[in-house]
Amino acid sequence: MRGSIIIRSNLIIDKARKLITELEIISDEKLISRIPFTSGEILKLIAFHRSINKSIVNVLEIGTGVGYSTAWLMLGIIEANSIPNIVSIDWNRERIEIARKYFKKYGFETFVDFRVGDARYEILKVNIPLDIVFIDSIKEEYLYYCEKLRDKLVDGGILISHNIFGFKAQLKDFISEIFNKDRWITTIIESDKEGLSISVKIKSKRNAKS
Ligand SMILES: C[S@@+](CC[C@H](N)C(=O)[O-])C[C@H]1O[C@@H](n2cnc3c(N)ncnc32)[C@H](O)[C@@H]1O
Repeated sequence: MRGSIIIRSNLIIDKARKLITELEIISDEKLISRIPFTSGEILKLIAFHRSINKSIVNVLEIGTGVGYSTAWLMLGIIEANSIPNIVSIDWNRERIEIARKYFKKYGFETFVDFRVGDARYEILKVNIPLDIVFIDSIKEEYLYYCEKLRDKLVDGGILISHNIFGFKAQLKDFISEIFNKDRWITTIIESDKEGLSISVKIKSKRNAKS
């Protein structure tokens, strides 16, 4: 049953859009890499779809940058009138501080727990059932995150990763894992020149009822 809190409003959506625009400018000025706008739209759509009929949506993001992709994920959840509960990790303190500053400026600080640290260790402390995981960090670590986080993702939960096209050698084992049809339903899309993989977690067979 849904609570009576109304998250979605034109005012809040407008603020989230302004936050996205401001973070886009800041990341470009400071030469801090971020997903392109077109991939942000896809993240928003996936987050929106995953949030339908859910009161709270749990997201883990690995690789915050200045929080640009975080803001798109948050916007999708808000547009579905759900409450975002996002943990976003980056080991670059300056970037996390920028993200914190701008989310606070627009009143969204309660929706995101920005954490400074090495995601390889920080993810081990995340013990909530995850609806969405977004990976956008060092490519050699993608398989590790995928393996460690699969059990924390709910059945039907979504694993998204960026830069699928540019790093074929480093991502070979990761790509082989997400195309394991007993575990994931995956597609790769050319949302930008780097590409996004989108994988839906399939219920483990050993847990499935016959
Ligand atoms: C491409 S940027 C992220 C951009 C962000 N997702 C966006 O689109 O706005 C990658 C980030 O991952 C962070 N990173 C890479 N490996 C990491 C690790 N093991 N732990 C924490 N942060 C990491 C880097 O500091 C960098 O800020």
